[in-house]
Amino acid sequence: MRTVVYPGSFDPCTNGHLDIIERSSRLFDKVVVAVLVNSAKHPLFSVEERIALLRIAVKDLPNVEIRSFSGLLIDFMKEIHADMIIKGIRAVSDFEYEFQMALTNKELLPDIETLFLHTSKEFMFLSSSIVKEIARYGGKLEGLVPASIIPAIRAKFKTDNN
Ligand code: PNS
Repeated sequence: MRTVVYPGSFDPCTNGHLDIIERSSRLFDKVVVAVLVNSAKHPLFSVEERIALLRIAVKDLPNVEIRSFSGLLIDFMKEIHADMIIKGIRAVSDFEYEFQMALTNKELLPDIETLFLHTSKEFMFLSSSIVKEIARYGGKLEGLVPASIIPAIRAKFKTDNN
């Protein structure tokens, strides 16, 4: 059985993330979406909120599991006995940083492979930052994030002083 890990901040998850998750779930037996807890990026959504949104978004994908991790990704990979990381690449600009991370993980744990999936073309422009920017000013989120999580994102921007 092949388990792969799709790590990220998911602050919040977007249709671009979901596209990578769905495609990975067709390629592998099990996909563990790993939400980083201790991000230096000061996420807007708490880890519990990011996990809850992902769980709603993947509810129809039985072989996808949402977990959180802190510390090094390779330590989490060892803990769950996974040896492949999935990353999505939108543009050349993503590549340098992703390549650096892939080589770092390989250096730390040579058994690990990183597999890059290209983004689907309709999501090339999309990022969690773009979603937050649009949500902050009340713009249209349909098509950018799963419809099922739009109310929770809207609620976040109503209650918090973001
Ligand atoms: O969605 P992001 O923020 O681009 O995801 C980045 C992530 C979570 C994949 C990366 O920051 C990560 O793996 N962090 C864990 C710390 C780690 O293992 N660092 C060494 C590899 S660079």
